[in-house]
Amino acid sequence: MLGAERYIRDGNTGKRSSMANESANDTAQMIGPVILLGPPGAGKGTQSRKIVDQYGIPQISTGDLLRDNVSRGTELGLEAKAIMARGELVPDELMYGIVALRLRECDCERGFVLDGFPRTPAQAGWLDAFLEKEVFDKSGNPKNLAAEKCPPVVIQLLVDYNQLLLRLTGRRSCPTCGRLYNIHLQPPRVDELCDLDGSKLVIRDDDRREVIAERLEAYETQTKPVADYYRLQRRLVAVNADRPVADVTAQIFSVIDRHKQDRNHGC
Ligand code: AP5
Repeated sequence: MLGAERYIRDGNTGKRSSMANESANDTAQMIGPVILLGPPGAGKGTQSRKIVDQYGIPQISTGDLLRDNVSRGTELGLEAKAIMARGELVPDELMYGIVALRLRECDCERGFVLDGFPRTPAQAGWLDAFLEKEVFDKSGNPKNLAAEKCPPVVIQLLVDYNQLLLRLTGRRSCPTCGRLYNIHLQPPRVDELCDLDGSKLVIRDDDRREVIAERLEAYETQTKPVADYYRLQRRLVAVNADRPVADVTAQIFSVIDRHKQDRNHGC
């Protein structure tokens, strides 16, 4: 993990991981860790941004962190590049340093939304140990809000396979502001141009059909067991994400709000 600082740019995680909106409704409250679990194209990135705006906590997307390292040509980026291009998972050991570094940033103290992590049961176990040791115990004072021991809320986004294919093959993003579009489902007003800043939209390297198939396969074999891990701990809440974005957002907010209330009553 030594020297891992160079893997985080300016203490942030790239465009999708923007720091919370100052005008967010819940900026004074402890939210805790929120984990969005779901296959490629389930809407983890889309919904993470809604959570950022609503609750004022940062989004931590391991996919964005890795892509940022690839584009900057760091040692991690060089190792991850070919693996990601094949649609496979980057080895767990390479992920831990970069995630630990990001979670130690002070903007995570009230909570954070994890998008794309954990992705294997080993990563889930590592995260539990990390949260227990570093995030909730770091003040050493159990009465301190930041020291409150509260497990993450884990929200599983369920989407039909054919809908996932439409979402992934149609995805476009703005290279300037990071806004997501979908040429089939949420097209921009002008073909291939961002509604907000007019930039030409781009296609992600791993959104080619053959790579999509690999990514979905990796999800089935390596990431689905993560849902079982959290189900056994009674932390998993499944949400029907095969609905319009706003409907999915409303379901997610109600799960997070319920979790907050439970915490107030001692979780
Ligand atoms: P990552 O970047 O995490 O990609 P992913 O998990 O494959 O997820 P996506 O970003 O493709 O989809 P999403 O669920 O965020 O959906 P989105 O909101 O964009 O990972 C990429 C790679 O990095 C991995 O393959 C792996 O190699 C590596 N990696 C990352 N984390 C790792 C880890 N922890 N361990 C090991 N390796 C790791 O939406 C998709 C589209 O659908 C968009 O066009 C959007 O507009 C549209 N859409 C969203 N919601 C709706 C809706 N409700 N209705 C209609 N359209 C919608």
